[in-house]
Amino acid sequence: MTVNVIVGMQWGDEGKGKITDYYARNAHAVVRYQGGNNAGHTIVRNGKKYSLHHLPSGVFEGKEIILGNGMVIDPKFLIDELNTIKKHGVEENLHISDNANVIMSYHIIQDELEENLRGGKKIGTTKKGIGPAYTDKVNRIGIRMADIIDRERLLKRIEYALIFKNRYLASLDSSFKPLNAEDITDEYFKYGTVLKKFVKDTRNYLYTLQEENKDILIEGAQGTFLDIDHGTYPFTTSSNTVTGNASTGTGIPFRDITKVTGILKAYTTRVGEGPFPTELKNNIGKYLMENGHEFGTTTGRMRRCGWLDLVMARTAAKMNSISEISLTKIDVLSGLDVLKVCTHYEYDGKKIKYFPSDVEDLASCRPIYETLPGWKKMSSEDWKMVFEAGIPDFMKEYILLIERETGAKISLISYGPDREETYIVK
Ligand code: GDP
Ligand code: IMO
Ligand code: MG
Repeated sequence: MTVNVIVGMQWGDEGKGKITDYYARNAHAVVRYQGGNNAGHTIVRNGKKYSLHHLPSGVFEGKEIILGNGMVIDPKFLIDELNTIKKHGVEENLHISDNANVIMSYHIIQDELEENLRGGKKIGTTKKGIGPAYTDKVNRIGIRMADIIDRERLLKRIEYALIFKNRYLASLDSSFKPLNAEDITDEYFKYGTVLKKFVKDTRNYLYTLQEENKDILIEGAQGTFLDIDHGTYPFTTSSNTVTGNASTGTGIPFRDITKVTGILKAYTTRVGEGPFPTELKNNIGKYLMENGHEFGTTTGRMRRCGWLDLVMARTAAKMNSISEISLTKIDVLSGLDVLKVCTHYEYDGKKIKYFPSDVEDLASCRPIYETLPGWKKMSSEDWKMVFEAGIPDFMKEYILLIERETGAKISLISYGPDREETYIVK
């Protein structure tokens, strides 16, 4: 019985969806433990592209998929997502935690109003209501999945939440009209009626699967440095994205976690605001963005691009107990004369190896690079041929440098978006 966790080692969009889909073939169930539809996980199977937001990436493998208690779920969006995968002929085998919090329409309004109020200090959120939904969860005025399947209970919870929400939203926007509890109850009970058959105690369901010796794969969303505690706060998401939360967000005991695989993009990207030491605001950054199609899956925004940062990777490997790395998008680096890799930062006149915990300290760090030779541009056919003979010599220095600096082994190399464009290191 295994419990394997997949976690992003950077600022999200490392290719977790592709790798989870790849590894899902060996699992019985795939579980999400945090985040919501701020996630955008792209999967390419047989040349067809799919985007997932709430649903874990095992869904196309016909696996049991579980939305854990640590998630925030937009039921309207989830129903659309389920309808979309049905159109692709996929029958979902879904379980939704009764304790997962619900993203309500007023959370989406709040996200938008708060971003506008931040003016020049925007976070650049996905505007999906994630932060407000987690805020209400912590403030104990959240609505849970168990509430939306019971009309009476839902009405009481919404009436209670609106005592606070109506006052707060009116203070953000003078033209705001107070929300009516009955109307919202009608709307969300309608979603609850559709989703009811999936809602259950997923913690205990997972224990049953464990007792049956089933292999479980846990899929992280976002990335280590978007974590609310360990990321570049306040330029983070509102959940704990690191492995530590895989246990809290599902109920699976942490000592049952057998392996953590970190997903590392061969360069660095970030969507939204916040410091980014290895960012390239030049033609190379533009090259990576265009060659890697670095546009957000959820918002369509351009992703900021920069060199690979092993200070981040080293810190992520340590914090998440990562023993193996799946290295993604290595193909995107081709066509550059030289490659730079940041191994340390210079901070306050000293050379440091771990990512600083404070965002202002990070902003004053200067990256220290090693320079490696690049390799020529190749077509996807060329890549396939090259990898048939194993890891190409021209890439070995890059791989060894990552392994040496992170202490983790690269066990998978992804050289294209399709699940077939994957090399398992022997
Ligand atoms: P996630 O949020 O971590 O699942 O990553 P996204 O799906 O948001 O972004 C990764 C993007 O890169 C997607 O468009 C993938 O299809 C694509 N992708 C994944 N792996 C590779 C790869 O090895 N090479 C290339 N060129 N694209 C990849
Ligand atoms: P996946 O799972 C990249 C970023 C947003 C913003 C910040 C806060 O696809 O890797 P939020 O809406 O969560 O309050 O936004 O976090 N962000 C992501 N960036 N990939 C993601 O998910 C992200 N989810 C949130 O751009 O900067
Ligand atoms: Mg993404």
